Amino acid sequence: MNDNVPTASPRKPDLILLRDPAESAPPLVDSFQRRITYLRLSVTDRCDLRCSYCMPERMTFLPKKEVLSLEELYDLATGFIARGVTKIRITGGEPLVRRDIIDLFTALGRRLGHDLAELTLTTNGTQLATHAEALARAGVKRVNVSLDTLDRAKFAELTRRDSLPQVLEGIATAKAAGLKVKLNAVALKGVNEHELPDLIAWGHAQGHDVTLIEVMPLGDVEEERLDQYLPLDDVRARLEQRWTLRESNHRTGGPSRYVDIAETGGRLGFITPHTNNFCAGCNRLRVTATGQLYPCLGGGERVDLRAALRSDAPEANLAAALDEALRIKPEKHHFRMDARGAAPAVPRHMSMTGG
Ligand code: GTP
Ligand code: 5AD
Ligand code: SF4
Repeated sequence: MNDNVPTASPRKPDLILLRDPAESAPPLVDSFQRRITYLRLSVTDRCDLRCSYCMPERMTFLPKKEVLSLEELYDLATGFIARGVTKIRITGGEPLVRRDIIDLFTALGRRLGHDLAELTLTTNGTQLATHAEALARAGVKRVNVSLDTLDRAKFAELTRRDSLPQVLEGIATAKAAGLKVKLNAVALKGVNEHELPDLIAWGHAQGHDVTLIEVMPLGDVEEERLDQYLPLDDVRARLEQRWTLRESNHRTGGPSRYVDIAETGGRLGFITPHTNNFCAGCNRLRVTATGQLYPCLGGGERVDLRAALRSDAPEANLAAALDEALRIKPEKHHFRMDARGAAPAVPRHMSMTGG
């Protein structure tokens, strides 16, 4: 048990954005008539791992003073809730490396069952053993944990840190705390390609859903993206030779499309920005730890919510900024995976945008 779990919210009740739902602001609908109900809110660009497909070994992180305070993050989240967001996923970087982050979960968790349906996070798992119980107490029911390999040497090579035992302990602690765990694995050509069936079988045996992700050209990394890229339709075809895959209607509100595997009894998701575009059903916006709203992970469109939040008329300026984000949200991403040596489609690393 963690005795340090705070009971107070970061700052309340004089929230600038807290509204009575009865006089609520208009819902978030973009110019393609997509209703936004899912916010991915990054709380830090920092990470304690250095996954080679995510960032270079010598990554430069933002000065801490650029990053929103926990109070500001809470206010922003509240502003989105007032506009009809019902699902919030806390992202990073690695969200659990941010000091006092449990305060934010605790404060937002109080909205669950009222105007918020789900509060969750995506984590690399290194700090989960410490925080899983506090997260569960805050009202988190599910966590997505990134796990690309079960081979300790390969994990150390891929993440440039020897942290697999810590991550496995984190996953076990989350399960013991009653959290539903989904494992996310980026499918990487020649790296975990041949291990994917074992990783899936292991995850399912532990009772966890598993999702495979196609690598996206976000930011410069040392390796050539094309050398990393493994199309998931190929992976799926190979899995079908081994197992019986049945389409599932399971939906979480994210981009993953699921199948049930008869032999393992578990669920497998595919996130396929390249081989099966899911943008038509996009229901999400993402905000970085510095309060920059990117309407699309795969685009350069941006709106500065921090400036709005810190302005003289935060409520009006935030409303205007959200309207602008809806106006400029593109129809789809423009990731390309066909040119060797090409500059990344998007210069921001995933750790900066928050996925
Ligand atoms: P669930 O709530 O479990 O459905 O989560 P999720 O799949 O929405 O979130 P998660 O953080 O587990 O993301 C898994 C992968 O999907 C990450 O690599 C994300 O960057 C990617 N992803 C999430 N949303 C989008 C999106 O809108 N566009 C693209 N291209 N990738 C996304
Ligand atoms: N392409 C695809 N997935 C990525 N992730 C990080 N960088 C990339 C990338 N360039 C994954 C992490 C984590 C999730 C948030 O995004 O492994 O599972
Ligand atoms: Fe939405 Fe952009 Fe992701 Fe497509 S790539 S699903 S438009 S955020």
